[in-house]
Parts: sequence; structure tokens; C-alpha cells
Amino acid sequence: MAINSEIFKEVKEKFRKRFNEEPTLFRSPGRVNIIGEHTDYNNGFVLPAAIDKAIYIGVCKRANETISLYSEEFDEAFEVKLSEVMPTDKGWPNYILGVVDQLLKRGHVFGGFNMNIDGDVPIGSGLSSSAAVECATAFALNDLFELNISKQDMAFIAQKAEHEFAGVRVGIMDMFASLFGKKDHVIKLDCQSLEYEYVPLKLEGYKIVLLNTNVKHSLSSSEYNTRRQQCEEGVTLVKAHHPNVSSLRDVTVEMLNQYVKPLNEVVYRRCKYVVEESQRLLAGCEDLKNGHIDALGKKMFRTHDGLSREYEVSCKELDFLVDAVRNNPDVLGARMMGGGFGGCTINIVKEEAKENLIKQISKSYKNQMGLELSPYIAQTEDGTSKLNLSKFA
Ligand code: GLA
Repeated sequence: MAINSEIFKEVKEKFRKRFNEEPTLFRSPGRVNIIGEHTDYNNGFVLPAAIDKAIYIGVCKRANETISLYSEEFDEAFEVKLSEVMPTDKGWPNYILGVVDQLLKRGHVFGGFNMNIDGDVPIGSGLSSSAAVECATAFALNDLFELNISKQDMAFIAQKAEHEFAGVRVGIMDMFASLFGKKDHVIKLDCQSLEYEYVPLKLEGYKIVLLNTNVKHSLSSSEYNTRRQQCEEGVTLVKAHHPNVSSLRDVTVEMLNQYVKPLNEVVYRRCKYVVEESQRLLAGCEDLKNGHIDALGKKMFRTHDGLSREYEVSCKELDFLVDAVRNNPDVLGARMMGGGFGGCTINIVKEEAKENLIKQISKSYKNQMGLELSPYIAQTEDGTSKLNLSKFA
């Protein structure tokens, strides 16, 4: 597995210095999502992959009930007793404490611990650094205290932690991708049944290029929760006529035209996007399996347009980046990725054209938006794991 040996070493050495103990180390990756956005909490499908950018943590048990945390990135400590865990306005500890809280609520018995944390998943970039922290924590505590929790339950625990300690009612995609990722594959995940299939990510001469806008508008969490609520409203309107419908997974555009459009135009637009995106994902996944990358790319552009105009979770920086590559023959597809209102666009770019493209877009982004662009070439990687200290020492 490709790990960031610099961060790995730093976490290990700083842990020893701070806590005067030997850590066990864990890594949990960020994710990309090829297609299928805002479908997870609507019981639809998603197509994510874990990437080579990850969160690294060091942990060891303590002989008392204290949780002692250190964020290397923020250069900040946080301590709390197990029995006094609650959300804090400090921010970063919430993703760890939220998991501890969920474990306690499920009746798991464990003691205090020391933990330090660092990583190379850029915060606020839409690559799910928060899910990576939560999954690393769940995985590490499960290992340390032998809690016997399945990876699927870890995903639920991490998701619930985010709902309760970060206040965002996220779906299951990010956690699932971080825990279950597999190098060179994407995960076709059915968010209703949680059945999944690994699909080889064969791009034949193309690369996944992420362009980070370096913005995260403050609307992102409140609007995310609003979108979720609007989808639920749509389901309620359809359900009045079709009692068996329990999520947008069971809804067709015809039903929306008949029962939602006349009553609520905004809810209609939101739901229509989700229903169409679900169909697009299934077709896009077949494109990938059949090597029709150009067809998949076209669908990505359509996803972006839906997210921008109908679901309205884009922003001018994301729209600028997608429009900048729309007619470029070296770019098969591009769209905003993740929750929206900032973060990255995901682009499928011809391998030999990527450097030039990045140079050119960085320049025009700076000119037009007054901001630096951060490009990454994303490589897929395996999901959450314990790291062998001696192997990487
Ligand atoms: C965020 C959430 C995910 C998912 C995406 C949109 O990343 O954490 O659960 O809903 O937005 O697809």
C-alpha cells in the first residue's frame, strides 16, 4: 500500500514524544466519487473509491478514563473524561468524540486512550477528511479494545457520529468508501441494502484529476440538511398516492410530474435531479465496465448541470472549473464532487494532457476568481487499516 511515509513517521515520533508510549498506527483514506451525488441518503447507488490521501492516527490505552487527543495539523491538545464526552466548539475533536459517544451508546466497554492525528486529506476539499477521521477512530478503538465490531457497523457508527457531533445528516457513502476501499477499484454501493460490488477502475490512458477550488462556503452544512429535507418532502407527496414508496429510490419522474410538480416546484426540481442521477449512475457504471469512458464522461457533465441548476448545490468557483474544461477534447468528463458549495471538481483527463491543462486552468482560475487552484492526481487505494510499525519504520 502506498502510504505517506513522512506523515506516518511524524505521527509515530510525535506520539512517542508526547505520550512517552509506543503507538499503534492506523490509516483511513479520503474518497472520490465518480458519479452518483446526493443519492446515498435517498437509498440510491454511489460509485466512490478510496484514495491515496489519508488520515493517520497513533493510539495506545491509558490506565484511567481520560481521552487525551492531539491534532498535529492544528498543533492543539484536547482532553476529556470518557464519562464527560460531549460536542465541543473546538471543531476537530468532535469527529473523534462523536465516535466514542456512539460506541458508549451501543454499550461497548472500554477505557481511556491517547491519540494523535495527522493526514494529507485537505480539510474542506470535499474529499471527506471528516469521515476518514471517524473511520480511523472507530477502526482503531475496535482493534485496541477488541470490541468485535464489523466494518459495516463502523460505517454506521461514523455516520451517526457526524449527525450528532457535527450536525450534518450525511449519508453512508464517505464512511463506506473509506473503510471498504480497494486499490484500482471503485465501489458500486447500493445504499439501501448496503450490498456492494468492486468494479475495476480501468481508464485506459486517462487519469482522475481533482481541482480543488480552495473554497468552502459556509452554507454547505445547513443547505445539505435542507436538501435532505426537501427530498423527504417529495417522498411524502408521492407516498400519499403510492403508500409503498419509502424513498426516492422507489420514485419515477412520472410520479414526480404528477404529484409533486403541481404542488412544489422547488421540491420537484430537487427530486427530479436525484431520480435522474440514480439512473445515470447505473448506466455510467455499465459504461465503466464496458470501457466506454467517453460515455461516462458525458454523464458526469450532465450530473454537474443537475447539481448546479436543479439541486443548486454548486457555486461560481465549481461552475467556472467545469465550464473551463467542457469543450476541451482532452477532458472526457468533469463535475463538482461531494456535498457542494466548494471543494473539488473531478475530471477525467487524457494522461499526456494533464500537466498543460492544470497549468492553463490554474492561471485562468487565478485571473477570474482571484484564488489559487490546488490540483491532485487521485490514485485509488485500499481502505482503513492498521499499519505495521516495523514495515514502514
Ligand atoms: C457528502 C456526504 C455524503 C454524500 C455527498 C453527496 O460528501 O457526506 O454522504 O451525501 O455529500 O453525494
